[in-house]
Amino acid sequence: MEQNRNHICPVWVGYLMVNPLRLLGQNPDTVVGPYLEPGMKVMDFGCAMGYFSIPMAQMVSKSGTVYCVDIQEKMLARLMKRAERKNVHHMIKPLLLSENDGYNELPDQLDFALLFAVVHEVPDKKKLFNAISERMKEGGKVLFAEPSGHVNAIQFEESMECAESSGLKKVTMLNIYRSHAMLFCKNGK
Ligand SMILES: C[S@@+](CC[C@H](N)C(=O)[O-])C[C@H]1O[C@@H](n2cnc3c(N)ncnc32)[C@H](O)[C@@H]1O
Repeated sequence: MEQNRNHICPVWVGYLMVNPLRLLGQNPDTVVGPYLEPGMKVMDFGCAMGYFSIPMAQMVSKSGTVYCVDIQEKMLARLMKRAERKNVHHMIKPLLLSENDGYNELPDQLDFALLFAVVHEVPDKKKLFNAISERMKEGGKVLFAEPSGHVNAIQFEESMECAESSGLKKVTMLNIYRSHAMLFCKNGK
């Protein structure tokens, strides 16, 4: 459960993660597009340089907001530069968390949250999912995906148990290239 306690994606890998070749297997239009609409309040948790955040900002458009959360300032700085170039920076709110902070600063009443390739880097997965679940609107969707090269099926299952015990309900498995992925919905309590 406590795998990879010290492994945090380095900044140089952040550059690789925004390579346009990634579009071939993990296109944001198909990965997150079905769940986003103009005006929504959404979060990209562990956003790095914003491979998903920038298309998400285009999808929620000017009336929406994308909260981009990371623990590395350099990732967020690079994300904001990229967002300015695409003219979507007005919709993006960067949020730098410290590893030792709780999650008090996370926004609430979220319509959608993306946790893509980040949960395996977080030591306390229960605490993370509790914080995410508390901040979702009733009916809000959480897309949880992990890289199948780094996270095995058992580890993914253990993380999904944390998600379920936080009050998130499984909706459907998702077929995303080189990933384990599940869509959850907040509809309990
Ligand atoms: C492998 S990258 C994935 C980036 C992005 N989700 C994507 O798919 O392109 C993981 C990111 O999560 C961030 N991260 C790791 N632990 C975190 C935590 N506890 N809270 C917020 N972000 C975290 C890392 O700094 C890194 O930018």
